[in-house]
This record gives sequence, structure tokens and C-alpha cells, in this order.
Amino acid sequence: MNAKKFYITTPLYYVNDKPHIGHAYTTLAADVLARHLRSRDIPVYLQTGTDEHGAGVERAALEHGKEPKAWCDRVSSEFRALWRTLNVGYDRFLRTTEPSHEASVQAAFEKLLKSGDIYKGSYEGMYCPSCEVFYDEAELKDGRCPVHNSLAERVSEETYFFRLSKYEKPLLEHYAAHPAFLSPGQRAQELLNFVRSGLKDVSVSRSRVAWGVPVKSAPGHTVYVWFDALLSYATGPGYHPEKPSPDLPGVWPADVHLVGKEIFRFHGVIWPAMLMALGLELPRRVYAHGWWTINGAKMSKTKGNFIRAEDVVRDYGVDALRYFLFREVPFGQDGDFSMEALRRRYNADLANDLGNLFSRIMNMAAKYLDLKLPSKPESSVIFGELSSRTPVIHGAMEDLRFSEALESIWGAIGRLNRLVDERKPWALAKTDPEALKSFLHEMIWCLRLVAGWLDPFMPDTASKMQLQLGVGRSLDGTQPQKVPPLFPRKQDDAPKDPSTN
Ligand code: MSP
Repeated sequence: MNAKKFYITTPLYYVNDKPHIGHAYTTLAADVLARHLRSRDIPVYLQTGTDEHGAGVERAALEHGKEPKAWCDRVSSEFRALWRTLNVGYDRFLRTTEPSHEASVQAAFEKLLKSGDIYKGSYEGMYCPSCEVFYDEAELKDGRCPVHNSLAERVSEETYFFRLSKYEKPLLEHYAAHPAFLSPGQRAQELLNFVRSGLKDVSVSRSRVAWGVPVKSAPGHTVYVWFDALLSYATGPGYHPEKPSPDLPGVWPADVHLVGKEIFRFHGVIWPAMLMALGLELPRRVYAHGWWTINGAKMSKTKGNFIRAEDVVRDYGVDALRYFLFREVPFGQDGDFSMEALRRRYNADLANDLGNLFSRIMNMAAKYLDLKLPSKPESSVIFGELSSRTPVIHGAMEDLRFSEALESIWGAIGRLNRLVDERKPWALAKTDPEALKSFLHEMIWCLRLVAGWLDPFMPDTASKMQLQLGVGRSLDGTQPQKVPPLFPRKQDDAPKDPSTN
């Protein structure tokens, strides 16, 4: 039997809006983790996709004069194009409008109806049409949705409820037995408090929304978009409640659901309760990352305050964006995105620290080394010292402490730059050519190490470096070449002094 794959999920993105860097963030995190694990020969299954049902999507399609499905096709393919641009690899791209997913959602709903975990009732409450969520009055701010700040509407409807209350105790037991299930810790506490304060049953059908998976046994009702979308984590790798799912054991349970903090509750409370009700194993971990603001303010399309990943890529390249997002802010925390900060990091960390180091070494190697690169320098002190960072970096990566991994990598880059300054290889060229050669050999091996560490974050840069460093090629045949800068410096576009014109 094949080993179970490490299953990573991103949320399924709503197709009511074009993707921005906030969406890119969760998916890039999944890709970074997947690339890291694969580099250690751990088989990975990464699922992403689009969440295409519900009132929000229906409304967006209408506003654009499109049929919902045609609209979904268009925006879903924009997401797919973005993942190509950002160098994201996935094993499964699930659309909730896929017939096989819809069939599994219908069957799951019926299964829980039969078991009594779903029952019919009626509901009146305050509803935010943008989130498609009912809020308790206490959660609203002046009657407004805490996420969108739009006025919540009082809505009454016949609905089917999922018996979430029944799972309060089992959930608390599960959290206690699996302390890493809800991560990071500071966000977990909020969820624990929420569950301890008592769980109410939740509505899982809509009679007001036509664009959704029809409830089989109740014409006029569609399945609530969250019940539908959450199930995708299991239906993607083949789950159907009434049919054999031969591929599921190779993937399920999910090893980590990566989500933004605002959807932690769905993933940390409702989803595990749904899985308990369906008799499926629970995911190993649900990780809630923070939110990006733009120049200190919430990203909002209506305010025009958002940044498209494509624009950043056009100006700085994919790898600079991938680097910035995971270096600037620790993954679990909120952070602010500004082009200023990006340019600063680009110039300081990428153009100077990494880019200069690489050019300095490669250009000298091109000049002073002959055809052969030597085998691994087992006795090199600096190589040994650098190698000892590998377990630290791996530990940070496994634990999604991406910024710490990058700090450690930059610690190593700084160390190498200082070493070049101290050893002054350009002077050695005149005084001790043999010492120069062995120094450059060591440095090339150190850079190979650095390129390997960088690969999950900056795959294009890592492969450019590796090509020049002869990785994967016969050592004998590799003549180091002069290289163009990895990251050409960007000029500060500080306002010009008019008197100098
Ligand atoms: N469709 C639901 C998820 C269903 S999963 C079963 C949804 N979609 S979403 O498109 O609104 O958001 C998807 C992801 O993008 C979330 O993880 C969210 O946190 C992330 N981001 C959206 N804006 C963001 C920022 N400004 N900053 C960081 N991430 C944010 O929710």
C-alpha cells in the first residue's frame, strides 16, 4: 500500500470577486509547505479550488449580467491563472459546481437527515448577505456585520438545522486530547471559549437562495454554502457517503487545513462536528493565519484599497512577492502590506544580501576556478556550521513558522557575506591562489545549501542558483559562469527635488 500523502488544503475561494494578495497568501502558504515536504521526499496532496454557490455569487453574476455558472467559470479560471502566475502547484482544483461534489453533498445531507443530525425547523435571525452568515445580535456592531460592516437583515425562514449542540462535549474532548489541533495557540483560545460558552444548532439550508445544491428530499431548499464548501475537503479526494471511496484512505484525514482567521470557527468547530456526524476521521490540524491590511486599512474592493498579486509580480517578480509575504510578518499574525515595505525588503534582503553574495561568488568562481567543482567539503568549518541550521529550518517549516525559517536562512546569508568581507578573496587572488580556490569551493557548497533552503519560498530563484552551482549535474562538467544579478536593484521613487531638474 502506498504511504498516506500529507494532505494540505486551502479554503475554496469565493468567486464573487477577483483574487487579491489576501487570497494569494493562503494558497502560497500551502504551496510553500508542499514544496518543503516534497523536498524531503514526503508525498503531498494539495487541494485548492473555488466556492461557487450561494447568494453572494448569485448576486455578483447578476451585477455582471451573467448566468451564475458562466460567471463562476470565468472567475474560477482567473484563480487558476493566478496560481500559474504565482508558481503554485496543486493536485486537485475543486469547484463546488462539479457534479460529483454536488452528488456527495446531497448524499451527506440525506445521511445526516436520516441519522437525526439534521432536522427541520424554522429560523429567525440577523443575517449578513455578504458573509451569508446569521449573527447573534451581540456579535453585531450597531446592527452591522462585524466583517463587512454592512447592515444585517432580519430574516425568517423554514430551514434545516445541523445538531451542532450535540457535539459540544465531543469537540471539547477532542481539543483537550489534541492540543495542536487548533493552531496557533492564541487563536485557539478564542475558539475554546466560544465552544465552552455553549453551541447552538446551525442552519444548513436556505429557502431564499436558488443558486446552490438542491436538498434532495426538500424541494425549494438548497444546501447552505458553508456545509457544501466544507465537505469539499473530503469530496475532493473522492469521498461519497454511500459509495466506496478507494482513493480516500491514501489522503484522508487532512493533515492541515490552512485558513484565514475569520473562517477559523467554521473549520475548527462546525467542520469537525460534521465529520463526527458523518463518521469520518478528524483533520490533524486547522491553522488560522492573520490578515493583511493595505497601508494600515482593511482591504476592500469598494474602497479601491486592495492589491492584486499580478501587479506586484509585474514590478518585482513572483519570488519577491512570495518572499515578502512570508518574511515580513509571522504567519499567524496580522500584517500590513505596502509597496514601500516590499521595495525595502527587495533591495535590502534580495538585491543586497542574497543577490550580491551570489554574484560575488559566482563571478569570482568564473574567473578563478577551472572546470571542476569539488565534492562536498566535509571538513569545511563554515559548511558544517551552516548545515547545522538545516534541522532548525525544517522544524520551523513543519510548524508553519515561515518567517523564522527565513530569518535563519538570512542569518546564514549574512554569515557568508561577512566571511567574504573578512577573507577578502580578491586579495587572496594575488597572494594565495590555492587558498582562494578552496574558499570559493566552500562558498559554492554553502550556496547550494542556501538554494535548497530557499526553494520552497523562491522556486525560480533557487533553480537559477542551482543551475549555476551545478546542482544535479556532473561536478566535472560544470564551469562556473559570470551571472546577471538575481534581483536588479529598484530605485527609490522618492519625489524628485524640482530644483535639480
Ligand atoms: N469561501 C470561503 C471559504 C470556504 S472553505 C470551505 C471563503 N472564501 S474567501 O475567498 O473569502 O477567502 C478565502 C481565504 O482568503 C481565507 O483564508 C481568507 O483569510 C483569505 N483572505 C482574504 N482576504 C485576506 C486578507 N486581507 N489577508 C489575508 N488573508 C485574507 O472564506
